[in-house]
Amino acid sequence: MSAVPSADTRPVTTATLRACKVAGEPIVMVTAYDAGSARLADAAGVDAILVGDSVGMTVLGYDSTLPVTMDDMVRHTAAASRGTTRALLVADMPFLSFQVTPEDALRNAGRLMAEGGAHAVKLEGGAAVAPTVLKLTEAGVPVMGHVGLTPQSVHQLGGYKVQAKETEAALRLIDDCRALQAAGAFAIVLECIPVELAAIVSEELDIPTIGIGAGAGCDGQVQVWHDILGLSGRTPKHAKRFAELAEVIERAVATYAAEVRDRSFPAGEGCTRMEPRVLAELRRSREVPARSGREG
Ligand code: KIV
Repeated sequence: MSAVPSADTRPVTTATLRACKVAGEPIVMVTAYDAGSARLADAAGVDAILVGDSVGMTVLGYDSTLPVTMDDMVRHTAAASRGTTRALLVADMPFLSFQVTPEDALRNAGRLMAEGGAHAVKLEGGAAVAPTVLKLTEAGVPVMGHVGLTPQSVHQLGGYKVQAKETEAALRLIDDCRALQAAGAFAIVLECIPVELAAIVSEELDIPTIGIGAGAGCDGQVQVWHDILGLSGRTPKHAKRFAELAEVIERAVATYAAEVRDRSFPAGEGCTRMEPRVLAELRRSREVPARSGREG
């Protein structure tokens, strides 16, 4: 595997991802939640950046994605958009931003694109959300589906567990994917399902599948920024840490603190010296006027 970013600087579109599937080239997607991380992901040559509602857990400190609001998503998407030049920028639709009515969904997807600068949106669910996906795609909003472990339904699923392990559930998942494809979805995230099922779905669909905890048989992979960089306290089983940045950061901050305390930082070079003339004037202005000899 090459660690060299793609030399192709053309913006990635949904058609690019479809072409990757046809050509058998794996699609690379990673989450990012601000301009700095999006800039780094873009420079590293990823195909797509997901402003996931995982921002709720990775950045905002919640213990699930449920409290994430539209305003949170718009703000983080706009920040990531300012750091993205090439990758396709996909924004998650948070809990209850698309489930209430398709009209609501369209208004909220519109905000993510118009205010946030997203190129596409992602929403969780199968056949039940297909009419909403149709409404969005007919209005010109590219939609990425998301099935399997759908974190917004964590309380209904009874935890963050592998899904569709039995025949009936696996068949239902295949039907869900077909319904999303028929409604116009341009790709589907398959989260935490058995690798064999993910491979079957990927084989049967015309649109790309993007796996997370679903094996190498998917057309692409998505991972969470904090997980692959070693910034998460607890790494999920399906993630691989490609760096240990938390250790690097902690060491750097501890060194900074030590240098402030022993006064070796800041050092002279980084500081601006005053012109001697100005300093002399300033000092004179602080002097107490000399007492005249006639006093006392
Ligand atoms: O919110 C997110 O980061 C996601 C990925 C895990 C697919 O939905």
